[in-house]
Order: sequence, then C-alpha cells, then structure tokens
Amino acid sequence: MSDGDLNRGLEGIRVAETRLSDIDGEAGELTIGGYPVGELARNATYEESVFLLYNDRLPSADELDEFRTALAEHREIGDEARAVLRRAAEEEKPAMDALRMGAAAANLGTGAEDPEADARRVIAVFPTIVATYWRYREGDDPVEPRADLRHAANYLYMLTGEEPDEAAVRGVETYLNTVIDHGLNASTFTARTVVSTESDVVSAATAAVGTLKGPLHGGAPGPVLDMLNAVHEHGDPEGYVREKLEAGERLMGFGHRVYRVRDPRAAVLSDAASEFYDEAGDTDFFESIEAFEEVAVDALAEHKPGRDLDTNVEFYTAALLDGVGVPKELFTTCFAISRVGGWTAHALEQLDDNRLIRPLSSYVGDHDRSWTPVDER
Ligand code: COA
Repeated sequence: MSDGDLNRGLEGIRVAETRLSDIDGEAGELTIGGYPVGELARNATYEESVFLLYNDRLPSADELDEFRTALAEHREIGDEARAVLRRAAEEEKPAMDALRMGAAAANLGTGAEDPEADARRVIAVFPTIVATYWRYREGDDPVEPRADLRHAANYLYMLTGEEPDEAAVRGVETYLNTVIDHGLNASTFTARTVVSTESDVVSAATAAVGTLKGPLHGGAPGPVLDMLNAVHEHGDPEGYVREKLEAGERLMGFGHRVYRVRDPRAAVLSDAASEFYDEAGDTDFFESIEAFEEVAVDALAEHKPGRDLDTNVEFYTAALLDGVGVPKELFTTCFAISRVGGWTAHALEQLDDNRLIRPLSSYVGDHDRSWTPVDER
C-alpha cells in the first residue's frame, strides 16, 4: 500500500450508514433519530429516546410502558458486581474504571443470543453501578433501585437515597437526551467494531466505556467546573481569561473538532441550566457563567483569529450537572449512562447489516531480518 492511502485517525472516512444521528459541524446542527437535538432533549424521557434509537420512531403510550418496565426490571446488580465496586471505591479508583469493571461483573451470564435483551440490560444497570460505587466512596450503604421511578429519577434516587424533585430529574433527563448519540465518535466506533466480529453487546458497551474515559473524548467536564469556580472566585472574568491565554493554557469547554460554531448541545444545556437555576432561586452563579462565556468567546476570537473557537457541550454540562447535585467525579460516568443508549443502538444497527470492520495499516518496519540466537545478541 502506498503512503498516499494512509489516513491517520480515519478523518473524513465513512465506514457505516446510520439512521441514529447526524452532525452538521458548519451549521452547528445535530439531529437525533430525525429530531433536532433541542426538540428531543426538551420533550423526551430517556426511555423514549432509547426507544426512538432502537425503533426509528417514538413509542405509543402502551409501548412506552412496556419498554420502561423491561428496562426497570433489570436495574439490580448482584453480589459479584457490588464486591468489585466496593473494592474500587475503597481504593479510590476513578469512577470510569469502576463502571468498566462493574459493567463486566454485573453482566455475567449475558451472551450474544438476544442482543436487544443484552442492550436493555446494560442500559438498565449503568446507573446502579455508578450510584453503588459512589455510595461506597462516601462511606454509605448502596440504595436499592426502585422500579416505579423513571430512569433519570431512579439514578438520582440511588445516588442520594432521597426521591429527587422534578426539576432535578428534568435537568438530568435533558442532559441524558442531549448526549445520547453523536455520529461515529470514538467510543461509538469502538462499540460497532466489537460487534462487527459477532461478539456481544455487553462487550461492546464495556469496551466503549474504556474509550470514553480518555480526556480527548469524555474526560473534560470536571476541569470545566474547576475553571467556572475559579472564575467565580477571581471576580474578573476578563482578567482571568487574559491570564490563562497569556500563559498558553486552554479554556475548558471551548473548541471542538467538528463544530466551527457554538455546539448545538451547549444551547440546549444552557437553557436547561438556566431554567434549573431560576427555579432554584440561585441565579448568581448561572449569570456569572453566561457572562464568562461571552468574555471567553470574544477573547478566543482575538487569540486565535480564523479558528472559530466556540462553546462546546462540556461547558454547560458542568453547570447543569453541578446544579442538580451530581458530584463532579461522576460527570464522565453520567456521559456513559446516557451514551450507552447510542452505543447499544449502533451495535444493534451494525448487527442488522454486519460487515467485519477491519481496516489496514501501512507497515513501516523492516522485512527479511534473519534471526540472531539470544546468546549472540
Ligand atoms: N482554549 C484556547 N485555545 C484553544 C482551545 C481552547 N479551548 N481549543 C483550541 N485552541 C487552540 C489550540 O491551542 C490550537 O492553537 P495552535 O494552532 O496555536 O496550537 C488551535 O486552537 C487548534 O486547536 P486543536 O488542538 O488543533 O483543535 P482540536 O480540534 O484538535 O481540539 C479540542 C478540539 C476540544 C480538544 C480543543 O478545542 C480543546 O482542547 N478544548 C478544551 C478542552 C475541552 O473543552 N474539551 C471538551 C471537548 S467536547
């Protein structure tokens, strides 16, 4: 193969057809299951979003009821998974490592026989795994899941042990709907690659967790919150931005590989966060965040003219999740709790019309070496 064929990072290469989501990076538009992201995020429950991805249409009331029950009845995890999570918490392993190990342990006994049943199960157990780990980390007993609560509400309930108010549930649900799918990102590609070998959906989701963990993918919202708090304390957003950029640092929550305008998910999450902080009567923090966004975007335009650095999804993720009470150590696992809907939908789509994903590499090593025995090296 000639060097001309090499495409590092597969940029610009299309390897799958999908009905799940579509990104227009120039226009700043994201379509999920045919709906503009804002339309879906504002109106759907998480269960409806997953049904939409699995079936390419919204469920009727009866179908939704049935789907909700099918998800809710798989929320419990066994002793093996709890033991793994307790150990991970005691050793203060990162939450994403706990999720990866817990997901593998919680799904003992699943296989490739019924991919959709496996997909539902893996979605159902993710919040239980994360909440169980967090309860152990905080020195509390885990809280058993409640089948009568919807996905987002049950997650918050298991984290705190208290039934959450509707504003917090809507905040989390809007977030889960907003980030459920996003084209062929690295973790979604991983999931499709795993099932393309006719492996199973649980293996695909577990491998995708490992991919999402990296700071170039899902690992950024925690540092965004640190930055927002630092700006708040600093008191002078313009001064703060100037100092950071002059020191050659990046502003967290800005810039994107695909979007050249404001990430459409930032708009959805900003509205949701604004609503939440308004209702909570705590507008100060949110107003300072909005003011900071304006200052930062202007400063970035001056700092990197022509590069079009704008607000990305992580900026308002941090504001929203912090507002509804999700600890910052769990931000990336929250991303996984949502995106597992997309991963599993992509895995099912891949299985429907499978072709083994098997690209090529350009060999740059030697040929025809002759062997030297170990005592002669
Ligand atoms: N703050 C300051 N400068 C930034 C920046 C930011 N947030 N994002 C990009 N830049 C600058 C880079 O320093 C680079 O400048 P250079 O050409 O002088 O080296 C230029 O813009 C291009 O950046 P590049 O790293 O090539 O962009 P990318 O498309 O590979 O990176 C991100 C995309 C998201 C990784 C990048 O914008 C970033 O690091 N953002 C901050 C972290 C973040 O918010 N991550 C969450 C992503 S959803």
